[in-house]
Amino acid sequence: MLNRQGRPTQAGETAHEERATFTGNKALQQIEPLIFEIGHGEVTGVDIDKPVPYKSRLGKHARQGEIGLPGLSEPEAMRHYVRLSQKNYGIDTGLFPLGSCTMKHNARLNEKMARLPGFSDVHPLQPLSTVPGALELMLELARYLMTLTGMPAVALSPKAGAHGEACGMMAIKAAIAAKGEGATRNVVLVPESAHGTNPATAALIGFSVKSVPARPDGTVAVEDVKALLGPDIAAIMLTNPNTCGIFEPQIVEIAAAMHEAGAYFYCDGANFNAIVGKARPGDLGVDAMHINLHKTFSTPHGGGGPGAGPVVLSERLAPFAPVPFIHVENDKPHLVETREEAPAGNKPFGRMTAFHGQMGMYVRALAYMLSHGSDGMRQASEDAVLNANYIRAGLSDLMSLPFPDHPSMHEVLFDDEWLKGTGVSTLDFAKAMIDEGYHPMTVYFPLVVHGAMLIEPTESESKASLDLFIATLRDLAMAAKGNDKERFTAAPHHAPIRRLDETRAARQPVLKWQKPAPAKAAE
Ligand SMILES: Cc1ncc(COP(=O)(O)O)c(C=O)c1O
Repeated sequence: MLNRQGRPTQAGETAHEERATFTGNKALQQIEPLIFEIGHGEVTGVDIDKPVPYKSRLGKHARQGEIGLPGLSEPEAMRHYVRLSQKNYGIDTGLFPLGSCTMKHNARLNEKMARLPGFSDVHPLQPLSTVPGALELMLELARYLMTLTGMPAVALSPKAGAHGEACGMMAIKAAIAAKGEGATRNVVLVPESAHGTNPATAALIGFSVKSVPARPDGTVAVEDVKALLGPDIAAIMLTNPNTCGIFEPQIVEIAAAMHEAGAYFYCDGANFNAIVGKARPGDLGVDAMHINLHKTFSTPHGGGGPGAGPVVLSERLAPFAPVPFIHVENDKPHLVETREEAPAGNKPFGRMTAFHGQMGMYVRALAYMLSHGSDGMRQASEDAVLNANYIRAGLSDLMSLPFPDHPSMHEVLFDDEWLKGTGVSTLDFAKAMIDEGYHPMTVYFPLVVHGAMLIEPTESESKASLDLFIATLRDLAMAAKGNDKERFTAAPHHAPIRRLDETRAARQPVLKWQKPAPAKAAE
């Protein structure tokens, strides 16, 4: 069945809803077709003179015919892109409770600083003498990161969390090789609750991966780690606070056990935003940890290019930090670009990026740090934890907590035990949140919890915003328990696009527009 715009009716779209509007739009939410579907060959928003005759040297490579670019007038083009932009739900649209992703407010002050021409127009190949301010900013950011983490060194260049993991694990690999153990220490321990990037990184760097079981309370036990230790173990990759939103109670003992066995402790610092100003990873025994600037230090997840995932390193790993890095000698910053230029005692494992990292993100992160100050950053962590626990307290009589005995840190984890017998799944519940105007929380992660729902409100949300969110989820939870199954299984009801076959969309994505075959004349 085709709707008014000639598009097939989507699964779950009833004939009644289909007839509801002539245009297919839902109130002021406009259905926006692909630009190829609305463009016309003969229309253009700009007038360009016909080219003067010239002799082409393309020969047989010359285009044989029209390439069918869609043409739009200027207002049509404007509307197309504005409507597309309005389909983007972001932290500036509403509460975005994705657990583990930390969707916190990106302060506009940071954006303003990043747009200062001296930072935004800087080129990586400029002579050093013309960019002392940029170098000073990078040094200042590095100082903050080292102070907040209690670590003696930082590699700034990695472009995101997973890239930082690769950097940290390459430093560990280089340190092991320097001790002559490269051939034997080749196994990395990864807890079952880990983010998928951890085992993927270890494998990519050439280690094999051994899983550490999760305790029934969602944490990692030092006895389980010790049972796996041996001369083949290179490192453990442990997230703290972990992906269940729990501070690992035995983290210090685990770090000591790793060191005693001649191995390293890589901490996944994606959740550092829960403990800034409260605990320093260096004091816990961490050897390497990435910091997702787009989480803890509020840089945008997309910011005109890649992000930044600096890696802090312990004394043992610092000599292996990748080039380029800034070395200060006689109070003068100097950029070390190659292994050969590295000061004595340094053995950089190589290079992670062509240049020095993402300057725009450095500026934003430092602006965040300076505008909050150390007390403000500590308060941001406290408020993030408070907000998560406020949601936990507001929902835990209706929704089940898999680990009720541990306080939540910056995110609260529910499972689907409370949905048993309702015919409603975690996915159905998440889709019904869309009808209420909320981006769903993270679902089905971490894998150690059945039907996981991981909620991270961040410190950005006010009490009023949290109260409305809690009231909405309570209303949905009571409806799910009260047998209002249709509200969930067919959700979202009110979104322009209804429920997709997500598996098919991921496995068989349609990435290329195909011109439809001309319609057959009616017989
Ligand atoms: C626990 C954890 N580790 C690693 C990552 C990877 O970080 P990035 O997305 O910056 O590569 C994430 C991202 O969400 C995460 O939550």
